[in-house]
Amino acid sequence: MSILIKNGRVANASEEFQADIFIEGEHIVAIGANLPYKAEKVIDATGKVVVPGGIDPHVHLDMPFMGTFSSDDYETGTRAALFGGTTMVIDFILQTQGDSLYNALRVWQQKSVGKAIADYSYHMAVTDFNEQTAAEVVQMIEREGITSFKTFMAYKGALMIDDGQMVQLMQIVKKHGGMVTVHATNGDMIDSLIAQNRAAGNRAPIYHYLSQPEITEAEASARFTDMLHYTGCRGYIVHLTCEGALNAVREATLRNQQVNVETCIQYLVLDASLYEQDFDGAKWVMSPPLREKKDQEALWAGIEQGLVNVVATDHCPFTWEQKQMGKQDFSKIPNGHPAIEHRMELLFSEGVNKGRISLPKFVELSATNAAKKFGMYPKKGTIAIGADADICILDPNKKHTLSAKTHHMRTDYSAYEGFEVTGKVETVMLRGHVAIENEKCHLNAGFGQFVARKPQ
Ligand code: URP
Ligand code: ZN
Ligand code: ZN
Repeated sequence: MSILIKNGRVANASEEFQADIFIEGEHIVAIGANLPYKAEKVIDATGKVVVPGGIDPHVHLDMPFMGTFSSDDYETGTRAALFGGTTMVIDFILQTQGDSLYNALRVWQQKSVGKAIADYSYHMAVTDFNEQTAAEVVQMIEREGITSFKTFMAYKGALMIDDGQMVQLMQIVKKHGGMVTVHATNGDMIDSLIAQNRAAGNRAPIYHYLSQPEITEAEASARFTDMLHYTGCRGYIVHLTCEGALNAVREATLRNQQVNVETCIQYLVLDASLYEQDFDGAKWVMSPPLREKKDQEALWAGIEQGLVNVVATDHCPFTWEQKQMGKQDFSKIPNGHPAIEHRMELLFSEGVNKGRISLPKFVELSATNAAKKFGMYPKKGTIAIGADADICILDPNKKHTLSAKTHHMRTDYSAYEGFEVTGKVETVMLRGHVAIENEKCHLNAGFGQFVARKPQ
């Protein structure tokens, strides 16, 4: 199949220009003004924005968590991602404490192979570091193309590792060219604040927020960057939410350290006032919680300052029925919210259309930096000759309203109900195949391929 995308406003992380794009098979083969090629399919992109397919490097599909499973599986989750212009995701494999990384890998392969519609890769969450894990870390990098290792400084008893294990993991990962990523919050302090609130009879969702104050994230982010500095390992902080944590990263730059930082779209556009309603606040119970307006300002500024490199979602959806598990006790509400479908449009609308970021910056945050930092560039994350033809075409002026009535995620509510957005994803291509057109998905379960990544 050949496709010619004509006359779009094409953007990469470093530039934007008016051009045609010619695709043959799975790859981009030519880019330029008025290309003279004949194609089986021609898309007129006049007045449209043409960007690399989005990469969301932080999603949880079909994940066992807090006594249930996240409600989108690989099929529904990656389909919703495509509707929103995201052509690739990186999901998290969770090692079960006391079990091997390879057993966990096999479980996640069963969830994804033959089911994913969009392309995908895995981060490996190390929840139990020991000699066997250390040997398997090397095998993951060298044989399996899994080069990033997720750690949790919270969720004690299920996912958390201690600082000694963290340093040892960093040492082995550094030696083999991988990256350690982190959920950076102080788990012990949070557990103690949760216990205090429960003991005082404070059971509403707002106490989830009040049990995870900014300092718990700032402290852990500083501790993590210190351990990175000591070991020399490459590191990445996931879902950074607040000014205090960002300042810990800023502080690290003063000793010439480079720390990779991801925030998530919800921390840029939603705030903690949403917890000031009774059980409805459960829709936004996630960890870390939504923060204050001043933190949003710090994050947008951090983007401009080059401190925040990636905007992801931490998509971890639950149905309203699942959220009821915490009706009597905020600490039992499954943590997470649905967002995989809305990241690109929200970032475009709130970022580019509101003049906070340029179009190339949008590309950098939504695709290119994830591809570069996780070892997939230039196959993914750019519109370039030879790259995978993963492309998202947006109408930059089209207004629409987000709603559970129209979204494709497997949740019966929207965390963004009624949110007005300017900019609509219209056509999406994945490896040269039309994935989304005329509001329909044209690819089936199993089209998505695993992307093996390179160590750096
Ligand atoms: O609330 C969240 N973020 N749920 C998913 C697990 C995690 O911490 O990323
Ligand atoms: Zn997390
Ligand atoms: Zn997460």
